[in-house]
Amino acid sequence: MTAFTYRDNHYCVEGVPLKRIADACGTPFYCYSRAEVEARYDDYVSALQNFDALVCFAVKANSNQAIIKLLAARGAGADVVSEGELRRALAAGVPASKIVYSGVAKTVREIEFALQQEIRQFNVESEPELEEISAAAVRLGKTARVAFRINPDVDAGTHEKISTGKSENKFGIPLASSRAAYEKAAGLPGIEVCGVDLHIGSQITNLTPFKNAFTKIAELALKLRSDGHTISSIDLGGGLGINYDEKHDNAPSAAEYADVVEETLGDLGCDVIVEPGRSLVANAGILVGSVIYIKQSSQKTFLIIDAAMNDFLRPSMYDSYHAIAGGRKNGGADILYDIVGPVCETGDTFARQRRLPEQKPGDLIIIEAAGAYGSVMASTYNTRPLVPEVLVDGDEFRIIRQRPSYDSIIGLDRTWEDAD
Ligand code: LLP
Repeated sequence: MTAFTYRDNHYCVEGVPLKRIADACGTPFYCYSRAEVEARYDDYVSALQNFDALVCFAVKANSNQAIIKLLAARGAGADVVSEGELRRALAAGVPASKIVYSGVAKTVREIEFALQQEIRQFNVESEPELEEISAAAVRLGKTARVAFRINPDVDAGTHEKISTGKSENKFGIPLASSRAAYEKAAGLPGIEVCGVDLHIGSQITNLTPFKNAFTKIAELALKLRSDGHTISSIDLGGGLGINYDEKHDNAPSAAEYADVVEETLGDLGCDVIVEPGRSLVANAGILVGSVIYIKQSSQKTFLIIDAAMNDFLRPSMYDSYHAIAGGRKNGGADILYDIVGPVCETGDTFARQRRLPEQKPGDLIIIEAAGAYGSVMASTYNTRPLVPEVLVDGDEFRIIRQRPSYDSIIGLDRTWEDAD
């Protein structure tokens, strides 16, 4: 989080004091650093320079057009999992030839749209899905380039809700039936087999699961080639985990990850696709709220802020740890706070018993490493408007998504009498 520092005791994002942004757009808001996003993307590109590699940003991590556009301008592709994400990637300027379409179950409509755009590759998750892609390709007179997502049955050692590479998970096709699946694909019209895909989970901070999975995939690729299939590309799925908690996490670098890719897949001579999301944007973003009240209970001091679980779901959904900072270093004594939002659920808690300098109503509170799976997972629960997003570049900032008006949210409803 090098772009996020205190200057003269005030929290700044690159060259901009956070207070300036808060005065312009009100709290809560998400704020991203352009330099940080670009630096993390460049890390992957330079680590994988010995490969013919394409870094496809997993748009699900942060799908703001401004962020996708920054990455596209540097040459990134996109990994999408819905028609909506595909439309966003295209609108932000990612060429269709650099877009891979992942996702457990693509609908016929989504498949047709992607075929019309002539995307680079479908990552296919089941035989019924393969049949739909083939039928749609024939209908539209197109050819679909496909890779099967293989479930290598590897434990990613991450939170159970974001672990995807075990045989009990709903993702991909089992290693054991993969040769038969490729055989079937080879016989279907409108299908061109181009490679193999996997994704074992997210927030992985240990290289061993990657190494185990890539080794299994390398073996499979050789078998598939001996079966007569063209395997020219390997899609390695999502990227590395990050250090949310400097005391406990120990995330490897992109260079260390690339060493594992080299060691396990280097001899295959394949193009490599990686789909990092979190590691590109998590540390490039913060969620900023302000203190509404400080409430003293018999046991605790609650710092109640105007951001809530609907704005940032990770702590309540995954019990995730996020560093939290005050907007100013005020020199006051540290206090142990439970930092919570105003939503009527006990799960609306960002941190328990966290030490911060003494705060007062109106002070800014920063939830760090919120740039990935933050804004994209927000909802309007409690009829709270989605929060704005701001991008900082050097000494400048721009609002890259406005706060919607209450009318635009409530106005989506129709009473029985007014509805068609
Ligand atoms: N590719 C595929 C097929 C994926 O399903 C994912 C993430 C990625 C790439 C990107 O993985 P990453 O590089 O970000 O680890 N909401 C959860 C994370 C869900 C991840 C889902 N798939 C969270 O907040 O931790």
